[in-house]
Amino acid sequence: MKKIFFLIATCLLAFACSTPQTLQEKLTAHDAEIDAVIAQMTLEEKVEMLHSKTNMSSAGVERLGIADMNYADGPFGIREEGQPNGFMSAGWTLDSATYFPTGSALAATWSEDLAYKYGTGMGKEARLRGKDVILGPAVNIQRLPVGGRTYEYLSEDPILSAALALFYTKGVQDEGTAVCIKHFAVNNQETNRGSVDVKIDERTLREIYLKPFERAIIEGGAMSVMPAYNKVNGDYCSENEHLLNEILRGEWGFKGMTVSDWGGTHSTMGAMLHGLNVQMTGSNYLGQPVIDSIATGALTEDLVDEKVRQILRVRYAIEPVPADVANKVMTSQPESQRIAREVAEKSIVLLKNEGVLPIKAEVKKIAVIGQNAVLKTQSGGMGAGVKALYEVTPLEGITRRAAEAGIEVSYAPGYKNFPGRRWGPAPAEPNPLEAAAIDEPADPALLAEAVALAKDADLVLFFGGTNKSIETEGSDRKDIKLPCGQEALVQALYEANPNLATVLISGGPTDLQVLEPASPAIVQGWWNGTEGGTALAEVLFGDIAPSGKLPFTFPVKLEDSPAYAMGNFPGNNTGADLFTLMFRPDVIKMSPEERQALIESLPKPVSEYTERFYVGYRWFDTKAVKPMYAFGHGLSYVDFNYSDIKASAGGNKVKVTFQLTNEGKMPADEVVQLYVHRIDSSVEWPEKELKAFQRVSLRPGESKKVTLEIPFEDLRYWNEATNAWDLEHGKLQLLLGAASDDIRQKAEVTI
Ligand code: BGC
Repeated sequence: MKKIFFLIATCLLAFACSTPQTLQEKLTAHDAEIDAVIAQMTLEEKVEMLHSKTNMSSAGVERLGIADMNYADGPFGIREEGQPNGFMSAGWTLDSATYFPTGSALAATWSEDLAYKYGTGMGKEARLRGKDVILGPAVNIQRLPVGGRTYEYLSEDPILSAALALFYTKGVQDEGTAVCIKHFAVNNQETNRGSVDVKIDERTLREIYLKPFERAIIEGGAMSVMPAYNKVNGDYCSENEHLLNEILRGEWGFKGMTVSDWGGTHSTMGAMLHGLNVQMTGSNYLGQPVIDSIATGALTEDLVDEKVRQILRVRYAIEPVPADVANKVMTSQPESQRIAREVAEKSIVLLKNEGVLPIKAEVKKIAVIGQNAVLKTQSGGMGAGVKALYEVTPLEGITRRAAEAGIEVSYAPGYKNFPGRRWGPAPAEPNPLEAAAIDEPADPALLAEAVALAKDADLVLFFGGTNKSIETEGSDRKDIKLPCGQEALVQALYEANPNLATVLISGGPTDLQVLEPASPAIVQGWWNGTEGGTALAEVLFGDIAPSGKLPFTFPVKLEDSPAYAMGNFPGNNTGADLFTLMFRPDVIKMSPEERQALIESLPKPVSEYTERFYVGYRWFDTKAVKPMYAFGHGLSYVDFNYSDIKASAGGNKVKVTFQLTNEGKMPADEVVQLYVHRIDSSVEWPEKELKAFQRVSLRPGESKKVTLEIPFEDLRYWNEATNAWDLEHGKLQLLLGAASDDIRQKAEVTI
């Protein structure tokens, strides 16, 4: 009997040990096989795997049947095929992809379900193009309204960013493609991005900036991670012991590979000892110098084996795309185009509406004004550009929909603007309207033409905002003012015809102080992908109710936002940027010693994060600074009623139930948001923090019981005294609402 019991116990134990418990542990399933392969590899073959082979691949070992690893930008569509040695177009014909709405637009849906579908669309198209790894999602917190990549990132809030990062990751990886989640970590500015040292306290790092990565890695099993260009507390992210070895691998149990941002590797010893697997691009650090360091005894071959093992785990988990699948059909597929449309439809945010929208039956003539109505937004923004199979512009979407209703549409550019460019030769005949500088005042002739059209129309749709040359990787905006004389233009249009709605086409917030009083309705329309214009027309004409909610705060003015108010940005961020220098021909030719000397001679930019965890609405609420439009804000064409809130705590979670009713005459979605305010806490907290949310669809008149849950885990804080997560017991006030500044129901629980 005892023997049988022992046998069963041993079997159970063996089963428990052999069954991987987490998605990260699952990556180790082939370790024995991988080690046998490594044993057959020469040192040279192993080291070949630690750096780029081409601009978008790193090597396998053909002799042993190990395929190369093929990477693809970026977060919003599988990037056009580039030449092996750079980003210039390879001139392919089947590489047009679906252009998905950009990061802040996806985040404005507040939908885990859509983030998942988006991921599946990206994952499928990656495989059609023969790619193993998508260089995305890009999940850094939107710290600065001016940030060049604010539009690429998701939100200013860690809970929202983390949920979407997780579901995007799951979607991609369920299709057999790996994500390379980026940019790890605290890459919140483009100014001096290659050299800036971010000085940040541990609590802020953990609670705000690392959250999206943590969830995608632990719960989503993200297989690869891209260390960012910047330094964090003194060390480059690509050789940051604390970030890569202690937190990522140590605490979060990451088993996959890290791939430096392009040009973001800085030394052989630092990268080898502190957590980098693959240098992208180049081999000056993780090529021959690794072999030389092993020869001198500075590094061991065991360390190389470990790095190769981590790379091979990803290679074994991702089946190489068979030759008869890769690049055999057009990358963009109808299924993904439908997903892009659904995301766009649910991302559009109605910021203000004094009865102008949806477009009324009496409107027979619409004047569409503003070059952003016709500008394609797929390209530009460097790594985030897409060569889209097609892109429906706002004007096309509106014209098509208006034709169905017998409405006449006229168009005038109103202002000069400039589109983002692909990495290719400049177009043979540049558009004369592309020539404006950001600060250029309104052009009198264009303004007069626009005003004449406005006078003659029943409704003016003004398209303002920025473009992808203004909001772009590689630089931050100087300010958030509307460019190219748009303010004077909208004022003149409003004077000519007050039946006016503004649509903002941008990825980040803009300063609306002048525009707001001249716009009875305002819509945030984003850079909304392949079907952006179709989705926008559906919302404007009232075929669907708008349901997007802001994933970031629109400040009244830039100086109100935390990093500016604290004087932390731009700080001492001036001078030569290391990243830019590295691509200068004379620097490329330098010896490692000369390059090092140059680096040492550069100014040392620092970004202090003394605003701490008071990022976005956490700051505005706590300091009682009124924003132009608050985090989570977004109107509908219907009213929603919130009632019967009930809250309880137990089983390691807080549970809130309530009744939500669509009081309108059309189907509509509401994004319900649950914030937590701490009562009598001994710990410092922002005024309130988002802790749960849900998108709920309701038919006209329908009422639903909604349940939201907050795991206790999400209520913890990082205790800097003990250097660990802590749960503070006590009273919580639960604030349920339609936006951070529109709380409809309150309850209290004790945990
Ligand atoms: C960007 C990354 C991108 C990489 C490859 C870098 O400049 O920071 O986000 O994935 O280039 O294009």
